Amino acid sequence: MDVIHTIEALQARLRTAGPVAFVPTMGNLHAGHLALVRSAHEHGDCVVASIFVNPLQFGPTEDFQTYPRTLDADCAQLNEAGADVVFAPSVAEMYPTPQQVEIVPPPIASELCGAFRPGHFQGVTTVVAKLFNIVQPAVAVFGKKDFQQLFVIRAMVRELNFPVRVIGAETLRAEDGLALSSRNGYLSAQDRQEAPRLYRALCNIADQLKAGARDFAALEGTARQALESNGWRVDYVSVRDASTLLPPVGELNQCVILGAAWLGTTRLIDNIEVSIAALI
Ligand code: PAJ
Repeated sequence: MDVIHTIEALQARLRTAGPVAFVPTMGNLHAGHLALVRSAHEHGDCVVASIFVNPLQFGPTEDFQTYPRTLDADCAQLNEAGADVVFAPSVAEMYPTPQQVEIVPPPIASELCGAFRPGHFQGVTTVVAKLFNIVQPAVAVFGKKDFQQLFVIRAMVRELNFPVRVIGAETLRAEDGLALSSRNGYLSAQDRQEAPRLYRALCNIADQLKAGARDFAALEGTARQALESNGWRVDYVSVRDASTLLPPVGELNQCVILGAAWLGTTRLIDNIEVSIAALI
């Protein structure tokens, strides 16, 4: 496995490689990221993973400075998972001059997480567009853990005609249901015990939808209350149409229940998809 820090060296390395399957990350890797790498293997000759903590997608009060940077451990894990190339550029390599050209993401990027993290998805789409142009992958794998991110990237790829096939990979969870995340490392032992409540609240909504409940606002309100009464600060809990990511209208087949909430100074997000076609 080659660890490469510059665009020029990466492009030289990839010139003779076959079709690339690409896994963009911000590092501090866990089993969820490695599952993406394994999935990438099924889709390309050469698996490239990037590790880049992208300043553009962090707000001024967010954790860009403190985001865990663990390159050596990440590379050991990527090697084990069978990656062929790691691309780990510096900020100066990615942004040698201030980035004045950015991607404008679709309006849905201003809802849900975007409503609480203004500019976040603009930063994500801009760096992913740059990485796609640098790596020129045939396939790129993203986790459904960041459902809205996957949705926005799919829209960008479709509407800007990127010649990249985007694959969504299932969310990997700890045994107690907590979605694996680099930010879980911020949790105190006590908060780590509490953290799976977010997933359980979303599952509870899913169960009720499957049982025929359709008062989305009531379901969202109950989940919010269950979290708040246990010390969480809730950004949102929302039932959405999985095909549009908008609030459901009329017939609903596939929906997704998304939540974002804070435990102390740690913001956790999660979502689950539910098929309720049979009940309409
Ligand atoms: P990062 O948070 O490092 O996540 C990298 C990829 O891993 C994303 O596609 C994310 O959805 C996926 N992932 C994270 N946790 C997962 C889990 N528990 N199960 C499955 N997949 C999981 O997302 C980003 O980085 C950045 O925004 C990026 C796309 C790299 C752009 O900077």
